[in-house]
Amino acid sequence: MKHHVKLRKPLVKELKKGNVKGTIVQFQPIWVRIFHWGFAISLTVVILTGLHLHKPASFLALNFSKVLTAHLVFNWFSMGFLAIRIADALIRRDNSLVPKIQDIKQFPQLMAYYFFLRSSPPPGRKYNSGQLLIYFSWFLLFLVASLLGLASYWQGEHLVWVWRLVGGFQVLRWIKFIVTIYFLATIPVHIYLSLTEDISRLQAMITGYERKPSPNNR
Ligand code: HEM
Repeated sequence: MKHHVKLRKPLVKELKKGNVKGTIVQFQPIWVRIFHWGFAISLTVVILTGLHLHKPASFLALNFSKVLTAHLVFNWFSMGFLAIRIADALIRRDNSLVPKIQDIKQFPQLMAYYFFLRSSPPPGRKYNSGQLLIYFSWFLLFLVASLLGLASYWQGEHLVWVWRLVGGFQVLRWIKFIVTIYFLATIPVHIYLSLTEDISRLQAMITGYERKPSPNNR
């Protein structure tokens, strides 16, 4: 939801001094930013510790049980940050992360743009179809992997149906490993695009605000 905001006087003065053109709009509310950086950092720890638990890097000589504790604790953090974002979406009635049929229809045109076959991306909502596909798949896979993780943590005590559903510990490990590979393949794409596509979007994810060219000097 984009809306114009009233800026603090000293900030307006600084912007005028710097001859900054355009209008300043709020693009990322505070809870989205808290979620983003909290989730990004926690999930990175979860993935790195997960890889270590899978195949310990002997040159690091880390304490296995401490790595396991970090893996569990940071996944609880990740789940907490995701819960914050879901609550935020419900309170603000924000559906910017929910893909719609219309978004998916634009996917081929968006790919044409990314592969230099089109000079501009198709018009989209807050996030384009590629972003929506990646973010939405991340949420689903993160929840699947967390559920599987809890099932193996509470081995035989709770969530025994999850265990039965997937068909045992080896299959459970295998699914979590594939999910990890998916994250490892897609996170760099996300970081690359956020640094190269429109850097003001990154500024908005940090400060909350973004500068848009105003209609008269476009
Ligand atoms: C250095 C690392 C990262 C940078 C620079 C970065 C940057 C960004 C930027 C600029 C956006 C806004 C995109 C836009 O406005 O078009 C965004 C959104 C998002 N990023 Fe990242 N990101 C990073 C790491 C991560 C990681 C590790 C994850 C989790 C796997 C992640 C998940 C998301 C999600 C879910 C959104 C949508 C936010 C929402 O609306 O709630 N990011 N990121």
